Amino acid sequence: MIAIGGDHSALELKAEIMAHLKKRGEVFEDFGTHTRESCDYPDIAKAVCGAILEGRCDRGILICGTGIGISIAANRFRGIRAALCSDCFSAQATREHNDANVLVMGARVIGPGLACQITDTWLDTPFSEEDRHINRLKKLEANVSE
Ligand code: RB5
Repeated sequence: MIAIGGDHSALELKAEIMAHLKKRGEVFEDFGTHTRESCDYPDIAKAVCGAILEGRCDRGILICGTGIGISIAANRFRGIRAALCSDCFSAQATREHNDANVLVMGARVIGPGLACQITDTWLDTPFSEEDRHINRLKKLEANVSE
């Protein structure tokens, strides 16, 4: 189950990605926003990350204008590893190396064709399971400030 969400600037790109996910036969839930009215990306990140951390969804896709604000928001949740990707190389690497559980894209940065290719790469690439990467993920979890 994939949780997907984006702010008002991501409405069109989110629709394109959802149509693409449907074509792939993926099961997903849309956490909004559903209108063009201005909204706050931290709220969308919270809804998607909450669904993952509660175990209702396995991974997530988040979109805002640049992808930056919503990735900062997502990475504040312990256990979320959100990766902002604008190319397929990064999408592959962040699955293999970081076991990224949230893919982030910028609706004002990339077009729908590339966004769908990045989504495919990210969904189809497994975590490498290599010790060095597992060790680094453990360190990420341990690096929490009070
Ligand atoms: C909204 O205008 C815009 O600030 C937001 O989508 C995002 O780009 C923030 O990082």
